[in-house]
Amino acid sequence: MSVLSIADLHVDYRRRGRPTVQAVAGVSLSVEKGQILGLVGESGCGKSTLARAAVGLVAPSAGTVEFDGSPTTRLSRGTRPAHLLGLQMVFQNPYASLNPRRRVGAQIADGVGARSRTKVRADDPRVAAVLELVGLPTSAAGRYPHEFSGGQRQRLAIARVLAAEPSAVVLDEPLSSLDASAQAQIASLLVELKDKLSLAILLISHDLSVVRQVADVLAVMYLGRVVEVGPTEQIWSDPRHPYTQALIGAVPQPDGLGTLPTALPGEVPDPARPPSGCRFHPRCPEAIARCSVEQPDLTVLVPSGRKLGTSIDTPIGTARSAACWLRIDTEAR
Ligand SMILES: Nc1ncnc2c1ncn2[C@@H]1O[C@H](COP(=O)(O)OP(=O)(O)OP(=O)(O)O)[C@@H](O)[C@H]1O
Ligand code: SF4
Ligand SMILES: [Mg+2]
Repeated sequence: MSVLSIADLHVDYRRRGRPTVQAVAGVSLSVEKGQILGLVGESGCGKSTLARAAVGLVAPSAGTVEFDGSPTTRLSRGTRPAHLLGLQMVFQNPYASLNPRRRVGAQIADGVGARSRTKVRADDPRVAAVLELVGLPTSAAGRYPHEFSGGQRQRLAIARVLAAEPSAVVLDEPLSSLDASAQAQIASLLVELKDKLSLAILLISHDLSVVRQVADVLAVMYLGRVVEVGPTEQIWSDPRHPYTQALIGAVPQPDGLGTLPTALPGEVPDPARPPSGCRFHPRCPEAIARCSVEQPDLTVLVPSGRKLGTSIDTPIGTARSAACWLRIDTEAR
């Protein structure tokens, strides 16, 4: 069963005297236990809005988010129901999760205490155990966040949320403030934690090459909508949506050979005035007449090489899907 399940989620930002921003416009995704779902897309496509709505920090305009089968979306102001301790969020800036003026051990002890509903001291063995989980020495408990490097601080932010023993963690660009070697270390820590704790992880990033290293499933977002989902390596080797093809084409190849960057014409449109039909149509090199009129929904496709109608065992939510008329017309399952 999915730990985190997002169904037809819409988030609008209403602004007085100006058109409403449709930041998330009908997204369905699910994350399973022991799985990293990587959500990628250009700046402004709605990733952070989706992340915040997923953990109940932003109210959806429509649709639902369920964590362990209960909605996260009808929270009364300022309170967070106890069962939502199991759903935690890590932000790009580690200081969003850490208080710079308190010692690390005391902050992790608060997280442990929130779960056990008791006062927990900084020298509690459970605090040391959480530090060890993220690869930091027990002595870190006595220090302040500013005494650590950027990568270590992100480890601390992760430790802070792990203290509450979550089963799902949403991370919004946890790597983007780090240098390449710290990025690689935190990325492999996420994989280790996913395996060790059977966590369901929603990892948000604009950096496709980093996400590729760690995500089991990839979801590609464009202007408030998910345009393609599937097992990471399948998408990487055979992207079906023209936008995914352009994104992957633009990733520099490590051997310096690879493909040339695929430049898309034009800018990402304003989500307050999204294009009609397929939101990607003004920039799509393959657009047909129908694309500017009818909006394609994310639709499960048959794996390449199989004939239409062959039975497929992949669970819905991780199955290969795309929102493109060219694929829906020929490859829909
Ligand atoms: N509070 C707000 N009021 C109005 N518009 C907003 C608000 N927050 C975000 N937006 C707009 O909603 C859209 C989605 O923003 P969001 O921050 O979710 O994108 P993102 O994919 O996380 O971008 P980035 O990669 O830059 O972090 C953008 O057009 C943004 O300008
Ligand atoms: S639906 Fe049309 S415009 Fe949209 S991605 Fe497919 S071909 Fe391009
Ligand atoms: Mg963001």
